[in-house]
Amino acid sequence: MEALDIRENEPLAAHTTFRIGGNARYFARVSSENELADAITFAHAQSAPVFILGGGSNLLVADSGFEGLVIKNEIKGVEVREQENLVFIDVGAGESWDGFVEYCINNGYWGIENLSAIPGTVGAAPVQNIGAYGIEVKDAIESVRTVDIRTGEQRTFSNTECGFSYRESFFKTVEGKNFFITHVEFRVSRLPRPNLSYKDIKEYFTNEEKPSIVQIRDAVVKIRSGKFPDLSQFGTAGSFWKNQIISIDVYEKLKVAYPLVPSFPAPEGLVKIPLAWILDHVCGLKGHKIGKVSLYKNQPLVLYAESGATASEVEAFATAIERAVKEKTGIDIEREVKSLSC
Ligand code: EPU
Repeated sequence: MEALDIRENEPLAAHTTFRIGGNARYFARVSSENELADAITFAHAQSAPVFILGGGSNLLVADSGFEGLVIKNEIKGVEVREQENLVFIDVGAGESWDGFVEYCINNGYWGIENLSAIPGTVGAAPVQNIGAYGIEVKDAIESVRTVDIRTGEQRTFSNTECGFSYRESFFKTVEGKNFFITHVEFRVSRLPRPNLSYKDIKEYFTNEEKPSIVQIRDAVVKIRSGKFPDLSQFGTAGSFWKNQIISIDVYEKLKVAYPLVPSFPAPEGLVKIPLAWILDHVCGLKGHKIGKVSLYKNQPLVLYAESGATASEVEAFATAIERAVKEKTGIDIEREVKSLSC
């Protein structure tokens, strides 16, 4: 067996959609469980902390980089098991997320079509329970297969054990970060089940009662394209913050000051408010720009950076936005983007 290629001082900017950040002390791509085992052995021998990298599409790397081993997940493969109208698909976590969505569209497998055109890998999807246009990936996940990077042992998590909630899962917790996701098993359906609940989708299909799976994908791609800056020119990680989930009491107070504030029901009697609306109508920050960092003019939740911007500029900009929201509403907003530093 060939030895695993471990690079030193690898620039991480090229591995993220933000295109920002310093070097990784060590960097390895793994495409099998055996290579993963070798990478883990190396990290233990060097006493190096490990960071698991997927598509780098939800990540802000510090300018000083990472003093450990970054393992890029390139485990591939798709295995399908049909059981009447249900279809179980076991997918290598290093596969492209949108490549997998397209595979499902081409085969008429329903369940994840509204999650079209999201950058990143299959393995990253359960970590932050990606969601868009009325669907969260948790509703299509059967189980998640992992390797514990402390021990090298395999462990499979059932859907319930993944602890999914809005943009959260067990894999984002301190304990959960020890598990390297190697495969995700999905449960999709051969029966059409269009989900047109989300406002933008509903409006798109006003004249169409039962759009096909291809039509839904096309609609999502079209709607999304207006909400993000051109990725070939700018660095971004999509929504920089979450839509804040608040208690009814906090919401009622907010509504007194801003009667038009929209809201959506969240689990446990809580309320989700669109932060884009707050940034736009309460803080007047839509399109706000300092130096090379801006909030996007069509969707202020999306922070983007021009070429040459640094992570510390993004940090300072984001912190100022967080302060402005706190001052106007009293709410502490939470980031969706993950940070990686030494
Ligand atoms: N709004 C404004 N001004 C604007 C834009 C939006 O006031 O300029 C208000 C409107 O009231 C609108 C609301 O904000 O109805 C929500 O905006 P939008 O529908 O564009 O989506 P979002 O809630 O901001 C979420 C996800 C996106 C996902 C979309 C579509 C989060 C943090 N973001 O955004 O996910 O694509 O819904 O379902 O939940 C991501 O995770 O990176 C991401 C982009």
